Amino acid sequence: MKKVLVSKPGDFHRLQLVDAPRPSPGPGEVLVRVDAIGVNFADCVVRLGLYPSAKKYGGYPITPGFEFAGVIEDPGGSASELPLGTRVFGVIRFGAYQEYVCVPADQLYPVPDVLSQAEAGGFCVTALTAYYALHELGALSSEKTVLVHSAAGGVGTALVQLARAAGARVIGVVGAAHKRSLVEQLGADQVIVRSEVGEGAGLISALRAASPQGYDIVCDANGYKSLRQSYSLLRPTGRLVIYGAHTMLTRGSGAVHWLRLAWAALRTPTFQPLKLTNENRSVLGFNLSYLFEEKGVLKNAMERLLEMLERGELKVATLQEYPLEDVVRAHQDLQSGTTTGKLVLRTSSAPEPSKSPE
Ligand SMILES: NC(=O)c1ccc[n+]([C@@H]2O[C@H](COP(=O)([O-])OP(=O)(O)OC[C@H]3O[C@@H](n4cnc5c(N)ncnc54)[C@H](OP(=O)(O)O)[C@@H]3O)[C@@H](O)[C@H]2O)c1
Repeated sequence: MKKVLVSKPGDFHRLQLVDAPRPSPGPGEVLVRVDAIGVNFADCVVRLGLYPSAKKYGGYPITPGFEFAGVIEDPGGSASELPLGTRVFGVIRFGAYQEYVCVPADQLYPVPDVLSQAEAGGFCVTALTAYYALHELGALSSEKTVLVHSAAGGVGTALVQLARAAGARVIGVVGAAHKRSLVEQLGADQVIVRSEVGEGAGLISALRAASPQGYDIVCDANGYKSLRQSYSLLRPTGRLVIYGAHTMLTRGSGAVHWLRLAWAALRTPTFQPLKLTNENRSVLGFNLSYLFEEKGVLKNAMERLLEMLERGELKVATLQEYPLEDVVRAHQDLQSGTTTGKLVLRTSSAPEPSKSPE
């Protein structure tokens, strides 16, 4: 079988497609023949060698990838209640960029009929991230006003949909005008385009005008560039949910620019406990890759998300597909900062299976 291997961290061309033996399921694991693999910004950070949990859980050489959709090839003894041939999707802590994966049975779910295999391959990470940010940390409800940065991206489009499904008011920020219509179609009440209003004072005054009373929840994966602004936009009781730092990287570049990174780290704000208490604001952060042991949290989130899919409240916003062999192009496109929605790799090992298991 084919798999993508990053022998040591670096630029786009560190993503090598290699031949490897098909894995065999260990105790509690299921073998899945993979059809589609979600590409996440975190995979680029793993490739660059800047993702701490990649080092914590195995290091390099590494096969990136947190999510996939496929069919059950070997249920692994009694590991899975799902029969051979069932369409499944799920998450894995690294290693999804390959044609076969062995996954703990409790990280797999049957793909609902509303999703194609490609959509299923790109569903779990963005949806779980958005769910955890808004429901577990943000205390989302219909009275809330939510600000979503990078609202046209993978996680951004899921955040907008989840917030709208809860009846909240949603303001989205996107980098360029070509992203506006997608976020509007997903139901955002207002979309602010950074290239039109400017990054600094222009953006903050547009955001203040959009919600003069402030924001209840601000979802920020930008990092140093907007964190200070995001905090200042919170109304009392507001929550700043931090889940990434993508502005620390150089847009479009496959390499790490260490000076720029150090400069960005120095400019990343810290938040004073006394200020937080006196202003009644909260700053929260998380990373899904450290949440795999929180089985109950993930199961509950996935069940709620599956219900939302069935009710038509959630979809994979847009999908850009690449053959697994074009993984370099997928990373280049994602790091260009111009993509919208989700990017998915397709394996050549399997035709699109029928939507329901036989
Ligand atoms: N904590 C977690 O568990 C978790 C899980 C999943 C994802 N994440 C984080 O969530 C963020 C979004 O991930 P995603 O996979 O859905 O990506 P994405 O939003 O589809 O793509 C990244 C977007 O970030 C913006 N951007 C700003 N600076 C950039 C740079 N230097 N290079 C490229 N893009 C830049 C661009 O949008 P605009 O120009 O429109 O802003 C770009 O479209 C990432 O920071 C990722 O690490 C965190």
